[in-house]
Amino acid sequence: MKRAKKKVKVIEQFESELRNLQNGGLYRSLNVLSPLPETSTRVQWNGQKYTLFCSNDYLGLSRHPRLIKAVKDTVKKYGVGTGASRLISGTTDWHEKLERKLASFKKKESALVFSSGFLANLGIITSLTDKNSLIIIDKRNHASIIDACRLSQATLRVYPHKRLEKLETLLRKSKEYNRTLIITDSVFSMDGDLAPLSEIVRLKEKYGALLMIDEAHATGVFGPRGSGLAEELELEEKIDIIMGTLSKAIGSLGGYVAASRAIIDYVKNKGRPFIYTTSLPAILCAASFEAIQIIEEEWPLREQLWNTTHLVKKSIAAMGFDVGESVSPIIPIVVGEANRAVKMAQYLFDQKIYVPAVRPPTVPSGSARLRITVSAAHTETEVKQLLSVLEKFKNG
Ligand SMILES: Cc1ncc(COP(=O)(O)O)c(C=O)c1O
Repeated sequence: MKRAKKKVKVIEQFESELRNLQNGGLYRSLNVLSPLPETSTRVQWNGQKYTLFCSNDYLGLSRHPRLIKAVKDTVKKYGVGTGASRLISGTTDWHEKLERKLASFKKKESALVFSSGFLANLGIITSLTDKNSLIIIDKRNHASIIDACRLSQATLRVYPHKRLEKLETLLRKSKEYNRTLIITDSVFSMDGDLAPLSEIVRLKEKYGALLMIDEAHATGVFGPRGSGLAEELELEEKIDIIMGTLSKAIGSLGGYVAASRAIIDYVKNKGRPFIYTTSLPAILCAASFEAIQIIEEEWPLREQLWNTTHLVKKSIAAMGFDVGESVSPIIPIVVGEANRAVKMAQYLFDQKIYVPAVRPPTVPSGSARLRITVSAAHTETEVKQLLSVLEKFKNG
């Protein structure tokens, strides 16, 4: 009886916390969307059609005929699931082919594929550090990096967003640790701004630290071959560890790390989120391989992405919205309180534009926003529709 009462009390605590979230505009729920055939930018919800300006499918590759063909061509032989983890029987020739492709795409000796980008960050960070290590991260790094640092046994220090004098102060105290790992997103996922990579490289060299960057939002977007911001700044050789995801511009699913052979071998041997999870399906390795091929070959696709990005950002800023320091296809409209962001998202939704509000804890308190993302797949009509709805909102 006592136990039953305790259980009711715990459930009441959950319900009360959920009500608090609702009252603060912080409650999250799922919208079940039906994709429309042959477009990555339009969906259907409750019988109505909406244009998406929130997906990370920056090049529209998730629907590219070559990726779909790659999946169709492999599924018959390889099936859907792999049935085991990488070190048991879950490594196929497609995993190996993709890893070789990623290593050359990132100009590194070796690469390793994970089942998601989140798992990649967990696996890399927890295996490369121990209780005698120091990890230093930018405050706005992605949640998967923060959680990985929490899970590691290392000492964690955080510097305010892009404040390199603070990073240097922390590095000055790094001598007592066996190794120091600096980690930063290259493109910050909620602000669309860039890490000052050249300066961070200078600091990491001065203090003998390792540098790891997360190129989740830069891969397929930056660089002459679309490899990322490290390529754009010609820093690939100076950055020790480059990770990314296959789920954004690459249009598929999975995560990866590219680095020296020794680092990759170490992560393969020590990374629990690599060792103890079922491997990525081979059909998705084949799709990602094809996507990287397209990214390397098709400059016009990236040019289209950048033309739309510049147009949308310039127009939104001219309307008087605060777009922060965005210099990428991630364009935030920062509105402040969570409830205001929810209201704005609802206004756009009523006008058939789908951009959910991003609220704390995903972004700092008081900086709730609409995170608009642009894709090479957006048509001129869709872009005009977005801009005219935002203009109406501003004047309304
Ligand atoms: C910067 C960054 N790193 C890592 C991830 C995780 O990648 P995935 O979605 O493949 O798990 C994301 C995805 O949201 C991200 O934005």
